[in-house]
Amino acid sequence: MSPTSNALIAPSILAADFARLGDEVRTVLQSGADWIHFDVMDNHYVPNLSIGPLVLQALRKAEIEAFVDVHLMVEPAERLIDDFAAAGANLISIHPDSVRHVDRALSQIREHGCQAGLVLNPATPVEVIDWVIDKVDLILVMSVNPGFGGQAFIPAMLNKLKVLRKRIDDSGRTIRLEIDGGIKVNNIAAAAAAGADTFVAGSAIFGSADYAATISQMRAEIARVSG
Ligand code: DX5
Ligand code: ZN
Repeated sequence: MSPTSNALIAPSILAADFARLGDEVRTVLQSGADWIHFDVMDNHYVPNLSIGPLVLQALRKAEIEAFVDVHLMVEPAERLIDDFAAAGANLISIHPDSVRHVDRALSQIREHGCQAGLVLNPATPVEVIDWVIDKVDLILVMSVNPGFGGQAFIPAMLNKLKVLRKRIDDSGRTIRLEIDGGIKVNNIAAAAAAGADTFVAGSAIFGSADYAATISQMRAEIARVSG
């Protein structure tokens, strides 16, 4: 099976209208989104401040049952892992340099019954996954420096995706390969061709007039390069 035949689109709610967040999440799900990507920033690990576990709890209380992919850009991340698991996260991703013990933090996520993700910043070597590959359900490649939506895609990350796709395939494990940052209709096919199977897009979706049209254009672009 080609990696993109089960492609998932995960809109980042960082680009949603926070004054109407529940409606925005419902609309984007009705428009064909698979996951909700939930960016957590602390003005310490990254130079921006976003939303915390209370917001996820509120979405769950508002009967939003979708798969929520929490991307922690906080340091230290350990305590917030527990808080986000309790708030209803399905998957929690951490940056290796945001925790003191990477192996332990990944296990901590799984002990809560959540899927675990490891995030590679643009300059993070791929080898960081080598000794924890049995503890991850997802590898997230940042194609911008974390902290802000609306930045330009870093093209060198396509090669990184290719290297990681090979490592995942060689491992024989079921691990999703997610790309995050600057993904648009006009570059999602290149990311898919390089091996990504899970696509975060913030401004490209929430900044568009018709979320459903944008998501279906993205799916068509992915399908174009799926063999
Ligand atoms: C960046 C975040 C991304 C970002 C994506 O730190 O992790 O998820 O919000 O936004 P766009 O798609 O606008 O680059
Ligand atoms: Zn993100």
